[in-house]
Amino acid sequence: MSFRKDFLWGGATAANQLEGAYNVDGRGLANVDLSPVGESREAVIGGKRKMLEFEEGEFYPAKESIDFYHRYKEDIALFAEMGFKVYRFSIAWTRIFPKGDELEPNEKGLEFYDKVIDECLKHGIEPLITITHFDFPVHLIKEYGGWRNRKIIEFYERLVTVLFNRYKGKVKYWLTFNEINVILAHPFMGSGLVFEEGEDIEKTQYLAIHHELVASAKATKILREIDPEAKIGCMLAAGSFYPMSPRPEDVFAAMQANRMSYFFVDVQSRGYYPSYKLKELERKGILPDITEEDKKVLRENTVDFVSFSYYSSRAIEVNTDDKKVADKTDSNLFASAKNPYLDHTEWGWPIDPLGFRITLNEIYDRYQKPLFVVENGLGAVDEPDENGYVEDDYRINYLRDHIKNMKDAVELDGVDLLGYTTWGPIDLVSAGTGEMKKRYGFIYVDRDNYGNGTLKRTKKKSFDWYKKVIASNGEDLD
Ligand code: BG6
Repeated sequence: MSFRKDFLWGGATAANQLEGAYNVDGRGLANVDLSPVGESREAVIGGKRKMLEFEEGEFYPAKESIDFYHRYKEDIALFAEMGFKVYRFSIAWTRIFPKGDELEPNEKGLEFYDKVIDECLKHGIEPLITITHFDFPVHLIKEYGGWRNRKIIEFYERLVTVLFNRYKGKVKYWLTFNEINVILAHPFMGSGLVFEEGEDIEKTQYLAIHHELVASAKATKILREIDPEAKIGCMLAAGSFYPMSPRPEDVFAAMQANRMSYFFVDVQSRGYYPSYKLKELERKGILPDITEEDKKVLRENTVDFVSFSYYSSRAIEVNTDDKKVADKTDSNLFASAKNPYLDHTEWGWPIDPLGFRITLNEIYDRYQKPLFVVENGLGAVDEPDENGYVEDDYRINYLRDHIKNMKDAVELDGVDLLGYTTWGPIDLVSAGTGEMKKRYGFIYVDRDNYGNGTLKRTKKKSFDWYKKVIASNGEDLD
């Protein structure tokens, strides 16, 4: 057997992409609510266009999403039917602290997560909670400037303290920030950052990043005090950068592109800023104020495990005049050169199952801590038949090829892996595009990009396939 006996198979979602009920039971407004589908989205999530109120003529998919808020029982029952051992979901910060800076939490918001957690436990499903999955209260953006302000660390500490006390003994796995490196590519979506005219964007980003890293370490410290049995991890949008050629310039560029992301985990897992990053930030004159207390907290509170999302590898080349430059493509919120050796999804993301094994090995070599794959999957257009049934062999093929490579990484390379949660086990709103059309689920949800549809749930072909994979602990992938 390649996977450990207690291997955690399951699926992953994020609050704003499925809950809906954006203004119910006292929930406050968050950055993620204000990201419209369509043309303006890219500028908004990239922090280039400030949209801190709902605007006329825009459609905001997170307001309703797939209404998990009212249908969680039905949805969790379907996850249980597939045999899930774990369900990864996130907390909407503004359900717990609607504005972010209150002293007391919103009891109604907590009650919702009580019910979700209890429903999971009832079915023997381990909850794995992402404390923030791109969520950030709008009030904290308007009043404090978001994560660029050190004060936010305190509010985050307040949030985690409430959660850890409330769910002590019930929740064994926590993640501090989803895809923490996304702040570099999509600062508004990743962390609620918007910029002023003429502002040094990179400087602000690294200031905000530093505060998030300190907040993450403090959360780790608080969890160990409140619930020493529980485990806490960091979460990276992974996918190794390949050099487009063996030219040393391309190889060097790939190393640097990888370090852009590994920097975060270097700090969260090793406990200190790596020298390459200190040098770079000093050289650019944008090194944030790292206090002695920050250094201590970072060093003493490193993560128990490293989690990441993997959808594809990426590629990079140095642009010189003497050669033709490859086309660019998208790859989970980061731009990449188009790798001619790979097929691409309908959204242009490379499909690279062996790259998954490469990434697993790279991360394990670097940190030597247990890993957890908390996102992987194929976003595709599904065409249901007259009964609403989808024959999604393309999704099964993608997942099969990736699970095979994950198995090789464990069995042949010895990577220590705790579990695997596919992205979007039920169709939900896309983070990158805001579309519903980009589907990842084993369960089809009747809803389109602009909110039309009955929200009815229907099992796809992949539903039974994944059930079999889990029942065989990854041995039966046919
Ligand atoms: C990751 C996020 O970026 O990838 C998820 O953690 C997101 O929130 C997922 O949904 C897939 O990306 P997309 O853009 O296809 O939804």
